Amino acid sequence: MSIIFNEKTKTITLHTKNTSYQMKIGNLDYLLHLYYGPSIPDEDMSCLIMQYDRGFSGNPYESRSARTFSLDAQPQEFSTQQQGDFRTSSIEVVNSDGSYSFHGKAVNYKISKGKYQLSTLPSVFAGRDDTADSLEVTLCDVVSNIQVTLLYGVFEEADIITRAVKVTNHGKNPVYLKKIMSMCLDFLNGSDLDLISLPGRYGQERQVERQAMTHHIHNIGSVRGSSSHQQNPFVILCDREAGEDYGRCYGFSLVYSGNFLAEAELDQYDQLRFVMGINPKQFLYELKPGQVFECPEVVMAFTSHGFTALSHLYHDFYRTNLCRSKFVSQVQRPVLINSWEAAFMDFDDVKLVEIAKAAKNMGVDLLVMDDGWFGKRDDDNSGLGDWFVNETKIKCGLHKLVEQINDLGMKFGIWFEPEMVSEDSDLYRAHPDWAMEIPGRHAVRSRNQIALDMSRRDVQDYLIEKVNAILDDANIYYVKWDINRSLADIWSNALPPEKQGEVYHRYVLGLYRVMDKIILTHPDILFEGCSGGGGRYDPAMLSYYPQYWVSDNNNPIDRLKLHYGTSFVYPTCTMGAHISDSGRFVPLETKAVVAMCGTFGYELDATHLSKEELAICKEQSQRFRKYYHITFKGDFYRLTNPFQMGNMTAWQHVTKDKKESLLSVVVTNLTCNGPQEYIRAKGLDADAFYSINGGPQIRSGSSLMNAGIPINREVPEYSAFQFHLVRQDEA
Ligand code: GLA
Repeated sequence: MSIIFNEKTKTITLHTKNTSYQMKIGNLDYLLHLYYGPSIPDEDMSCLIMQYDRGFSGNPYESRSARTFSLDAQPQEFSTQQQGDFRTSSIEVVNSDGSYSFHGKAVNYKISKGKYQLSTLPSVFAGRDDTADSLEVTLCDVVSNIQVTLLYGVFEEADIITRAVKVTNHGKNPVYLKKIMSMCLDFLNGSDLDLISLPGRYGQERQVERQAMTHHIHNIGSVRGSSSHQQNPFVILCDREAGEDYGRCYGFSLVYSGNFLAEAELDQYDQLRFVMGINPKQFLYELKPGQVFECPEVVMAFTSHGFTALSHLYHDFYRTNLCRSKFVSQVQRPVLINSWEAAFMDFDDVKLVEIAKAAKNMGVDLLVMDDGWFGKRDDDNSGLGDWFVNETKIKCGLHKLVEQINDLGMKFGIWFEPEMVSEDSDLYRAHPDWAMEIPGRHAVRSRNQIALDMSRRDVQDYLIEKVNAILDDANIYYVKWDINRSLADIWSNALPPEKQGEVYHRYVLGLYRVMDKIILTHPDILFEGCSGGGGRYDPAMLSYYPQYWVSDNNNPIDRLKLHYGTSFVYPTCTMGAHISDSGRFVPLETKAVVAMCGTFGYELDATHLSKEELAICKEQSQRFRKYYHITFKGDFYRLTNPFQMGNMTAWQHVTKDKKESLLSVVVTNLTCNGPQEYIRAKGLDADAFYSINGGPQIRSGSSLMNAGIPINREVPEYSAFQFHLVRQDEA
């Protein structure tokens, strides 16, 4: 059992392969946090906590004249409200008498085998080859009878601890939750920690930013109704000196697709509090007697060995313990061609078949019909919500079109944007009240479309019925699920005024229900997520989709940064990456090398390619398949940082057994007559010998990792190289 309760010291210690986490039912039954870091035995770490009489940091009533125990200075497992802890709180509840107070004390704990369950939200699971243990610790406020249950999932082998929270109203009257975080972690000293986050914008998602902790609340979050392009629900706290290969790193990844918040507060005594969960902005959730509120899960990982090791923990775990699709591991992903940048909405069935015929010669497996096939949809001002085939464009009907594509030996995919409605649509005309518009006000337009009120059961049922009807009508192999705006005008016509503070979260719950009924009921369809590119690229979405469109920005040089940032937490096998016309001065080979970092495909008009280009693409598709077992299942290494000035960006995939590796390099900026550059490999077997691209040269893993590979600088700018390294096992 990886969870141990020590009766004598009242400590609870969680152990994974390389880490330990400890809490203690301490003074006056407050639950104190003692430790998270490299493995320790079951010793009581409360020796770390010093207690002083601190000015202006008060003491709980029960302390009476003893002045040294202050919740303002002690590390808490779940920070409370109005108890003299003035740091950021994990909970804010408005009681039925109007008071804002929650005095949570530990009343019981439960240790069990297996992973705890969340019933309303996606969460990670124990895989086929690993086990998990769970801990529940209940904090109770005896006056209001509100109980907060802290949930911990311990994945010993994977070195992962998950956290979530359930709040139950055992009182006699309704209360309102104003803020309820999924986790709190108090560090005894945080002044030497940095925070790394993944901010961005449309077309430039998940860029990497690093900031030193100073004495205020550092706040990372989204209030756009989705996890967003602008921030990602992933944060690293690390040593100031930490880099790819060294330094303590803590990772926090929230399995949620709506508004989120991560706060890191360096307090007056240089302690650091970190909380993460649903963003409290416009959040006011009524909890009636007997009702339970579930918070989304945070997946935590720790390593002393830098960012690469931390990324590997997340990559391995998210490849096996998050996504419920068989495509995540059992089935090789197809090389696809998408109609968007080929034709935008200007296509018909004949054009699609022409593209497919040309793409067949490129070695493509799957044609995706993107936006424009439904309702009245010649531009993006109309049609959303009308999920029936536009027969002026698809004249032969969907069934026949799919048959024609299948007859070419190719599979067929289709695009949906279920959560949106156009004002100019049959759906809006029939159900204007289904759109998110505040009565008496005009809703903000974004791409001239309005969000549907996904919190409504009737809206959910409409979408489930319409989308499933299309999926069941034809032989559809792939679906791209898009959402192309941020939510504003938060309002539901189906809820009374006092429940409007629930709409943001209910939207997300409604979305998950729709996805359950569409995605989980079609296990043979490969789903890819998208939100104007990578605007909702989060673990909850990846629990449905094995792949996600990284960005609408297909420029391969920008993609180097996009892939780099995304890879800090998300495995490269989830990264939707295509070759398009974007990046005019970049050779086709470089585009292919960059797209092979992810799921690989094309997004261009194949009918315009020359015979030679078609043949080049065919070779690229075959190469992607040849390297699939390395890039989809191997360990990923960031060899250079594209955000720093340098002439090359390089990355590497290595199979788990270190027998094969694919090392990729893009030359981004060559200075005239500059120095020779070498790219040093990582992750190889130092004592083994490797061939390079099947050539006669054999080099040791040690020399490849320490001396590196010289990169020919007599090449045009934006050239790319791939080095396929194969271990020379003795016969
Ligand atoms: C979004 C997606 C694109 C494309 C368009 C269609 O922007 O990111 O790939 O599907 O929508 O409208």
